[in-house]
Amino acid sequence: PSVLLLHGPNLNLLGERDPAQYGRTTLADIEARVTELGAELGVDVACHQSNHEGVLVDHVHAARRLHQGIVLNPGAHAHYSIALRDAIEAVSIPCVEIHISNVHAREPFRHTSVTAPVTRGYISGCGVFGYDLALRAVLHRMAEGAE
Ligand code: DQA
Repeated sequence: PSVLLLHGPNLNLLGERDPAQYGRTTLADIEARVTELGAELGVDVACHQSNHEGVLVDHVHAARRLHQGIVLNPGAHAHYSIALRDAIEAVSIPCVEIHISNVHAREPFRHTSVTAPVTRGYISGCGVFGYDLALRAVLHRMAEGAE
């Protein structure tokens, strides 16, 4: 089995961007950590990041043929991308949404997620540890779907 780990805009700057919110861990560190946990749990992890909404939509579409689950940090697209929301809804594989920061403790515009209602799980505010939770959660959803 395999899972897509997909990151949206500005997350390529993790490590240097706003460390008070996101810490010092880089995207490469996160991808390595999730890949390693995946290996322990017996799942391949394919990692992609894009600053472009349409590219993210394309990755979600492609995932339905290539993978059995998605772990998604949509970045700011969570707050307004109906296109990304519709893409997640259109594919039948489970998607778990993760935000590093606690979006509910931040600006009001971050309190809404248009993508969350079509995901099979939502994690926010656990820091990068949230990725461990998100991978385990999506594997749980995949196993449920395979029952
Ligand atoms: C984020 C939260 C979003 O509000 C923000 O736009 C990001 C990062 C997070 O991981 O905490 O880019 O998704």
